[in-house]
Amino acid sequence: MRIGILCSGGDAPGMNPCLRAIVRAAVSIGDEALGIMHGYEGLMNEEFYTQPDGTVFMGLRSVSGLSNIGGTILHSSRSQRFTTEEGLKCAANVLQKYHIDALIPIGGNGTLTGALELSKVWNGQIIGLPGTIDNDLLGTDYTIGFETAVHTAVEAVDKLHDTAGSHDMMFFVEVMGRHCGDVALHAAIASGSEIVCVPEIPTDPENIIKHLYNIKKRGKTSVLAIVAEGDDSGGATNLRQKLIATGECPYDSRVVILGHIQRGGIPVPFDRILATTLGVRAVDALHEGETGKMVGLINNKATLSPLEEVICGHRCVDTNMIKLLQIMAN
Ligand code: F6P
Repeated sequence: MRIGILCSGGDAPGMNPCLRAIVRAAVSIGDEALGIMHGYEGLMNEEFYTQPDGTVFMGLRSVSGLSNIGGTILHSSRSQRFTTEEGLKCAANVLQKYHIDALIPIGGNGTLTGALELSKVWNGQIIGLPGTIDNDLLGTDYTIGFETAVHTAVEAVDKLHDTAGSHDMMFFVEVMGRHCGDVALHAAIASGSEIVCVPEIPTDPENIIKHLYNIKKRGKTSVLAIVAEGDDSGGATNLRQKLIATGECPYDSRVVILGHIQRGGIPVPFDRILATTLGVRAVDALHEGETGKMVGLINNKATLSPLEEVICGHRCVDTNMIKLLQIMAN
């Protein structure tokens, strides 16, 4: 079987170990693995990963040392052209031209939506893998890259705690997450932050002011608020402005936007193990004849879900964890 592998959308720490797992699993059972550069855009442009000696097929050694490397050696992209009928047909023609039997795209909701559309114009098998820091995909309890992003965010917030404490002030820290507040919520709980604002729950500036007054009365001299970029207040900068506009915010404050720092870095062991487990299962699934599915981790077990079910919505934060934060923040 000839398997094409690509990474698409925002990169996520763990994409490299995932590629390593797919290539090693495939090659050890006699498959051919072709790395496709720059996601779907590179597929349409016939860009394949080439080893220094000019070999196109990825061998066992071509993925050596990738366990602890962030980003993706295949590079990634967001392709507008691939969302068009012309782009999809072009991608299908390239897959046919190079006799590729199966495709494993690694990415988030956009990547898997693209995979589903491609399956309508191409006869090969497709098994997707969840690679995004956002943890916003249905069909998996964790996406590859999420744990590392939380780790990065917590490290930054821990440092801001020191400065907030030294200056008796408040920080609004914006983290990534357009649809799901998991990075914000997990980072907030792990760092002992007082406030979290997530896309799934409306943010009420008056409630926040009340909470700030209460904790100030109880002697808290500094505060950390973690705000997901997709929160309905419009992100950390807007939320801060709204609180200041009330004229009643009891803390002096600053905004820190963590941005793309959260997407880079050495994948933490959890992401490496997740990437390896799901990558190997994807190759097995292809040999079982499966197609049009994503492999995710559900209740600690690699599980296949139809792409239609994965892309029809977004994973939401666990509201029990919001309660956890509220108890801790008191
Ligand atoms: O989907 C991953 C993600 O990092 C989101 O958290 C973020 O909103 C988006 O990508 C940023 O995308 P870009 O790098 O294209 O601006």
